[in-house]
Amino acid sequence: MELLRRGFQSLVQIHSKLIHKYYQHLYRKRKLRTFLMGVGSLYLLRRLSQLAMTLTPSLRRNLLGIYGEESWAIVTGVSDGIGKEFCIQLAKQKFNIAIIGRNAKQMDQLCLQLQGFGVQTKFIVADFNQGYEVDFYNKIYEQLHYLDISILVNNARVLETGQFEQTKMEDSFSMLRVNALSTLMMTKILINKLQNRIKKAAVITISSGLAYLPSPLVSVYSGTSAFTNYFTQSLSFTSQKIDFLSATPLSVKSKMDNTKDPDIIETSEFVRNVINDLREGKTHSFGSCRHRRQINFLLWRKQSVRNKARILLGNSIRGAQLETGRQEEVQQ
Ligand SMILES: NC(=O)c1ccc[n+]([C@@H]2O[C@H](COP(=O)([O-])OP(=O)(O)OC[C@H]3O[C@@H](n4cnc5c(N)ncnc54)[C@H](OP(=O)(O)O)[C@@H]3O)[C@@H](O)[C@H]2O)c1
Repeated sequence: MELLRRGFQSLVQIHSKLIHKYYQHLYRKRKLRTFLMGVGSLYLLRRLSQLAMTLTPSLRRNLLGIYGEESWAIVTGVSDGIGKEFCIQLAKQKFNIAIIGRNAKQMDQLCLQLQGFGVQTKFIVADFNQGYEVDFYNKIYEQLHYLDISILVNNARVLETGQFEQTKMEDSFSMLRVNALSTLMMTKILINKLQNRIKKAAVITISSGLAYLPSPLVSVYSGTSAFTNYFTQSLSFTSQKIDFLSATPLSVKSKMDNTKDPDIIETSEFVRNVINDLREGKTHSFGSCRHRRQINFLLWRKQSVRNKARILLGNSIRGAQLETGRQEEVQQ
């Protein structure tokens, strides 16, 4: 009888434990559901506000309002592609434009085109490959110091590809000077001026996705991309008055990119997205959702998968550069 009583007791205990567990489970499920619904609605709200911003430009914060009317944007490397597009989109927003590059004739023509948007322009001839000494940058500053500069776009780059041990030493030096040193020194000479403005200022650096996916055959370029990306993003932590933004796209249509990449994005789309990200106060931009998804996807994959993608990327950039070289030879 005692045995039966104990057996019955333990059955009752098991039953009440099961019921307790069941209610716990329901409670957790409800909590999880509430939590997921909360996250979902926040995400939806964010997407809807982004959509509203895209569809109604008047809702966006006016860039000139943030950085100051009559102010100047300085853009480096403007003969074509991304640099030229930055000049056009910023001039359309009524920033005066000062450009820095090697080719006076091309810059003169671009200035005429930009004046069509009703803004003032200026060009400075400078070959960043000659920027060995501080004096080189001081001379650039002397030509800019009287302007009310609000935006600096570090864009000039050279890309040389190939097996590192077979590349020319001068090409590696050139990539360091034009890609990395020019970004560092242009920011250095202008930072106090930007910091001391009444209105805010911005520094946009065009790095590349290789900053996150260093690849073979473009090892020096990958290194300079990582440098400019890290340099710009790290400055954003200490600066209250300057908005620093680093952009790390994959393929963007331009003379430098001759890939058959189906995920290549238009130059105008890239520049528009970077400017929108700056306006939203971001310190980093992939320049497109597609490139953000691709890079993030690879960064979360196993190392072997990531390495395969990096080898493909390096080979594709190398192939594209050889193709550009061949086309230029045919044209000459
Ligand atoms: N296109 C892409 O797929 C892609 C992808 C990722 C990142 N990016 C980045 O986007 C930026 C622009 O690329 P892009 O495709 O527009 O290239 P691009 O058309 O070749 O533009 C590069 C610019 O830099 C200038 N430059 C080169 N060497 C110079 C020097 N020594 N001194 C002064 N200026 C010099 C070039 O002027 P010259 O005409 O005088 O050579 C040109 O205006 C680069 O920073 C690149 O790393 C591009």
